[in-house]
Amino acid sequence: MQFGYEPVHPHATYAPWLDDPDFQAVYRAVQPNTLVDHLRAFELWRLVDQALKVPGDILEVGVWRGGTGCLMAKRVQALGSSARVYLCDTFAGVVKAGPADRYYKGGEHADTSAQVVLDLAARLELSNVSLLTGIFPDDTADQVADRRFSLCHIDVDVYDSALHILDWVWPRMPVGGVVVFDDYGFSSCTGVTKLVNDRMDRPGALTLHNLNGHAVIVKTAE
Ligand SMILES: C[S@@+](CC[C@H](N)C(=O)[O-])C[C@H]1O[C@@H](n2cnc3c(N)ncnc32)[C@H](O)[C@@H]1O
Repeated sequence: MQFGYEPVHPHATYAPWLDDPDFQAVYRAVQPNTLVDHLRAFELWRLVDQALKVPGDILEVGVWRGGTGCLMAKRVQALGSSARVYLCDTFAGVVKAGPADRYYKGGEHADTSAQVVLDLAARLELSNVSLLTGIFPDDTADQVADRRFSLCHIDVDVYDSALHILDWVWPRMPVGGVVVFDDYGFSSCTGVTKLVNDRMDRPGALTLHNLNGHAVIVKTAE
C-alpha cells in the first residue's frame, strides 16, 4: 500500500474560527485535553450545528482525554439540543492494529482515564455526556444499541477499529447523518486512509476529503 505525501497548504485564507468567540473560548478550555488542531476542532464544532438538523444522538469513539468529545458536547448544550453525546474509549489505548496500519501497534494513547474526561466535562458544566468504557462496539455498544445517531466522530487511528465502528453505526444513522474520520491522510494512520478510500464508491454515501485531515461521509440514502 503506497500513498503519496507532501505538506498540504491550501491558499484560502478565510478563517471563520477567528470570528467565533464561543469556539475560541471552548477550544482554549479543551486544548490541553486534545491532540486535534483548531482546524479539525472547528469543523467538528460547525458540524454539530448541521447534524442537529436530523434526529439522533452524537457518538464519539476515540476520546483520549476528552477534548473533541467535550467540545462537541458544549456546542450541543449551547444550542439547547436534547441530544446526548456518548463518549467511548478503552482508556487503555489503541486496539485492533493490523497489517494496514503502518505506525500503530496497539496500546498507544493509554495515558488517560475516564476520570480525566469526567473532570473536563465538569469544568465545562456539561450535563449531556455519557462515558462508555471498553472496546467499541465489541464491549459497550449494547448500551446504546437502541439509539440513532446524527453524527459520529471516529478517532481511533487504525483500520479494523474504524471499520467495525463504521459498520455498527451506519445502519443506526438517518439519511443526512454524518460520519467524520479523524486522521484521514495522516502518514501515521495509513489504515484510516485505506478504509475511507475502500468505501468511497459505496452507494448511499457522499464522501468528502477535507484537506485538514478529516474525511466526512454524509448518508444520502438508506
Ligand atoms: C487519537 S486518540 C483520540 C483523540 C481525541 N479524540 C482527542 O480529542 O484528542 C485515539 C483513542 O482511541 C481509543 N480507541 C481506539 N480504538 C478504540 C475502540 N475500538 N474502542 C474504544 N476506544 C478506542 C484509544 O484508547 C485512544 O484513546
